[in-house]
Amino acid sequence: MNIKKITSARGELTVPGDKSISHRAVMFGALSDGTSKITGFLKGADCLSTIDCFRKMGVKIDIEGDTVTVYGNGMHGLKSPSEQLYTGNSGTTTRLLCGLLSAQNFDTVISGDASIAKRPMGRVCNPLRLMGAKIDGDYCPLTIHGTRLHGMDHKMEVASAQVKTALILAAMYADGETKIHEIEKSRDHTELMLKAMGADIDVNGLDITVRPTKRLTAQNVAVPGDISSAAFFMVLGAIMKNSEITIKNVGINPTRTGIIDVMRDMGADIAMSNERTVTGEAAADITVKSSQLHGLTIGGSIIPRLIDELPIIAVMAAFADGETVIKDARELKVKETNRIRAVVDEFTKCGIDITETDDGMIIRGGKPIHSADFKTYGDHRMAMSLCVLAQAADGTFTLDDAECVNVSYPAFFSDLWSLE
Ligand code: S3P
Repeated sequence: MNIKKITSARGELTVPGDKSISHRAVMFGALSDGTSKITGFLKGADCLSTIDCFRKMGVKIDIEGDTVTVYGNGMHGLKSPSEQLYTGNSGTTTRLLCGLLSAQNFDTVISGDASIAKRPMGRVCNPLRLMGAKIDGDYCPLTIHGTRLHGMDHKMEVASAQVKTALILAAMYADGETKIHEIEKSRDHTELMLKAMGADIDVNGLDITVRPTKRLTAQNVAVPGDISSAAFFMVLGAIMKNSEITIKNVGINPTRTGIIDVMRDMGADIAMSNERTVTGEAAADITVKSSQLHGLTIGGSIIPRLIDELPIIAVMAAFADGETVIKDARELKVKETNRIRAVVDEFTKCGIDITETDDGMIIRGGKPIHSADFKTYGDHRMAMSLCVLAQAADGTFTLDDAECVNVSYPAFFSDLWSLE
């Protein structure tokens, strides 16, 4: 695809619902007693994979526009699926299901696409095995033999909300208390939502205690816009001349707002308004204007708060004066693709001064950028980041696979072009 360019980015838009919250609302709704209406649901491929898997386990789920109705089967109401559960490109579906399925009274096989087959599942299977889980393999396809699980006291090895959530789901079914200690605070949508639904869960800083939970009560969920999708337009507004973009109703849960902190620290003109709480999650409108940006060192405990935004932050760094160092971000290597390698290779193609490091990258920004044929590696966030890069650069650009944006943001291109 030739990347069509806009000359300035002005206007207002709403981004699709939060991916993490959409997955969880379906999964936890399926385990609850009662019916949940989920409004603002993200109808991207990943969340549709979650719906598909739960339908295969006997849960009735209706989709009408972006409202999803889940008719809960209760904590012990999932049925043995008659075929494999296929999770497509979705790491969240795959890893969360590992925790949940370990505790069922039936066996399942989980498989996904070529990217999922390469993503490490040992990080979730190994701690589950400490609870008694019986899982064959550390890569998809995984066979999970449902069994009785035990509580444990566990220090996590990676900062990962997917691993944390898998353990919390397993712990609700275990025969005793489970303590989970995070190494860094990762997104906490699971803790917030499950607690609101009646799970016996306490959070104290990095320590989470989960006690066996007999029953979850269905609740309606209004999903706020995904800050990880809004990030593409926040950065676009900052790097393009003569721009002002307002993104309405964006989730600003503090475990997700590292991008806002980084943009402010790099000198971006960014403001929040209309701050409110929707179904236990903070939301606001975000306005970004053309900005004079400068480089920054980004590392440490902020990384889990912006992990999915690092490719688009790298784009911002290419348009900032001076050096930006991204460190402590090894996790980028095990995303939909190796995002350190992918960003470095694609940026180098168009003349950006960038160096790969073991745990991130160094970008010396503010240099001329020229035409290039970009590769997305089938990664939705790479595709959208490169498209934003092209908007603010001189030259002409192509993208080898525009379709992959469907994973998290099917209307990305039309929303972008609507800003002209
Ligand atoms: C997610 C957690 C993060 C994130 C992913 C969604 C979630 O992954 O990158 O896009 O919904 O829990 P990790 O848990 O691997 O950090």
